[in-house]
Amino acid sequence: MARNTRQPCSNNPRPPILEAVTRALLVASTMSLKEIMAPLLTVENVKKTYQGGASGVAALRGVSLEAEAGDFIALMGPSGCGKSTLLHIIGGMDRPTSGGVTLNGRRLDSLNEQELARVRRRSIGFVFQFFKLLPTLSVLENVGLPILLDGASDRDAASRAEELLIRVGLSDRARHFPAELSGGEMQRAAIARAVIARPSLLLADEPTGNLDSGAGAEVMKLLVELNLEHNVTIVLATHSEDAARSARCVIRMRDGLIENKTHSPTNADRILQTL
Ligand SMILES: Nc1ncnc2c1ncn2[C@@H]1O[C@H](COP(=O)(O)OP(=O)(O)O)[C@@H](O)[C@H]1O
Ligand SMILES: [Mg+2]
Repeated sequence: MARNTRQPCSNNPRPPILEAVTRALLVASTMSLKEIMAPLLTVENVKKTYQGGASGVAALRGVSLEAEAGDFIALMGPSGCGKSTLLHIIGGMDRPTSGGVTLNGRRLDSLNEQELARVRRRSIGFVFQFFKLLPTLSVLENVGLPILLDGASDRDAASRAEELLIRVGLSDRARHFPAELSGGEMQRAAIARAVIARPSLLLADEPTGNLDSGAGAEVMKLLVELNLEHNVTIVLATHSEDAARSARCVIRMRDGLIENKTHSPTNADRILQTL
C-alpha cells in the first residue's frame, strides 16, 4: 500500500440510515455537511523535528491518518520510529513542526493553551507505560482527580471513581495507595482514570510494556471492552504483536513515516480473542 494513505481506519462503510440522519440533522443545524461528516480524528501530513545536533531529529516526516468514532488503531514499529511523538501530538501534549491534527472538528493548533488544556481534560484520556499514578493519593483519589480538577464535587468524583473501580475489578483496592498495587492493577487504575471524563479518544503508549503477559492480556481485554461498550476511539502504541491483535487496524511505522495499514479482525473475533 502507498505510504501515508489517508483512508480511515474504520473498515465499516457508513450505513445509509446514518447518511439520512446526518442530512436531517443538517437541516436543523448551523453546522456544515463537512463538519458533521468529519472523522473524529484527522492527522494531516504531520512533521515533527526536534532541535538538537546540526539538523535536528526528524521524528515524524509526514504522517496522515483518520479515525472514526469507535475505531481501535494499533501503532507498531521499531523503537524510535515516532510512535510516542505521534501520540503526544494527537493528544495536544506537543505541537507539530508542520501539519495539523483535527479532533471533533477542531484544529488543535487553532486553540490557545487554556483551550487545549480543556480539550485534553475532557476529550482525551491517556494511558502510559509507567502508569503515572500520583503516589501520595489513594487509588480512588487518583481515578477521580481528572473530573475533580474539571470542577466536579468531591462526592461526584468519588462516586464516579468508585463505579469505575468496580468496572475495572479494583473495588477492593480503592483506599490503597499505588505502591500497594501490582503493575497490572496500577494499569487498570490508570485506565479508569483515563476514561473517567468519558473522553472520545483514548491514547495508550505501550500500556502493556511493563507488565507480564497475563496482566498485559487483562489490560488489553479491558481496552477492547471499553472500546466496544463506550465506542471510545483508541490509538495504542505497542511493540507487542499480541496487544496489536486487539486492534481493528494496525498501522506500521518506520523512520517517522507510515509504512502500511492493515485492517484486522471483526468485533466478534476481537471479543472471542479476549475470552
Ligand atoms: N524530546 C525529544 N528531543 C529530541 N529527540 C527526541 C525527543 N523525543 C523523541 N526524540 C527522538 O525522536 C525519534 C522518535 O522517538 P519516539 O517518538 O519516542 O519513538 P517511539 O515511541 O516509536 O520509540 C527518536 O529518534 C527519538 O530519539
Ligand atoms: Mg515510545
